Amino acid sequence: MQKNTFSGGFVGRNLITLPSITSTNDYLKEKLANSAPLPEGTVIMAVHQTQGKGQQGAQWFSEPGENLTFSLLLSPKSIQPVHQFALTVAISLALVECLTELLPQSHIVKIKWPNDIYVDGRKIAGILIENMLMGKHWKHAIIGIGLNVNQTKFPEFVREKATSLKMLTGEHFDLMEIFQHLCQRIEVNYEGLESAADAVLFGQYVNKLYRLNETTEFFIDGVKVNGKIVGVSPYGKLKVDFNNDHVVEFGIKEIAFI
Ligand code: BTN
Repeated sequence: MQKNTFSGGFVGRNLITLPSITSTNDYLKEKLANSAPLPEGTVIMAVHQTQGKGQQGAQWFSEPGENLTFSLLLSPKSIQPVHQFALTVAISLALVECLTELLPQSHIVKIKWPNDIYVDGRKIAGILIENMLMGKHWKHAIIGIGLNVNQTKFPEFVREKATSLKMLTGEHFDLMEIFQHLCQRIEVNYEGLESAADAVLFGQYVNKLYRLNETTEFFIDGVKVNGKIVGVSPYGKLKVDFNNDHVVEFGIKEIAFI
């Protein structure tokens, strides 16, 4: 285990890098379950994840040493768990901001609802937030982030859909530089939430939505339908307009992009 100290704010200051583990989210969860005294902002980073987890039971594949795969420990105090979508907003935007600064302006960085980060129509990063609640209060939030940086070959089933910073620019990136930059962005947005400035972040999140106001094909209950994304509710539901006539809100399991 390698322990690094980090010059900057509290996010990422306590950085624990492990050569190989199943999943950084699971590792952090286990540490917390065993009452390890970890300060808020602790990051568990893996060079290699053997069972990286994605959303909705999917797997997250990342070539060892090529990308960023880490989990961040946050303990939100001033946001109620019922408003947990605010964290998704803060973290998604931090990734968008970081990538927008790293990439030439010609690239289009978007958030595919709820929290996939896309560049030029391909996925570059995914976020898996796991909340540990105590009654109505938040004990911890584990923010798992996978960001494709230097990987250029992907497994066949994601080849058409995945991208990385290197694929987009032809350049090799320093993982720790990007990590530090991202931690700073996360910290600013997270503190924005804590000071209740989240209406601003929420507006920025909606503006960055992939296919916002464009007619898009979805699957709803196995049926193909056309609708237009018009926004997101404060609880994180996707608002879709049908026939410029009525708007319906959907949870993550109720609608899928085709
Ligand atoms: C997704 O888009 O499906 C979410 C992917 C999240 C992947 C990251 S990699 C670090 C952390 N540990 C995990 O097991 N998953 C997240």
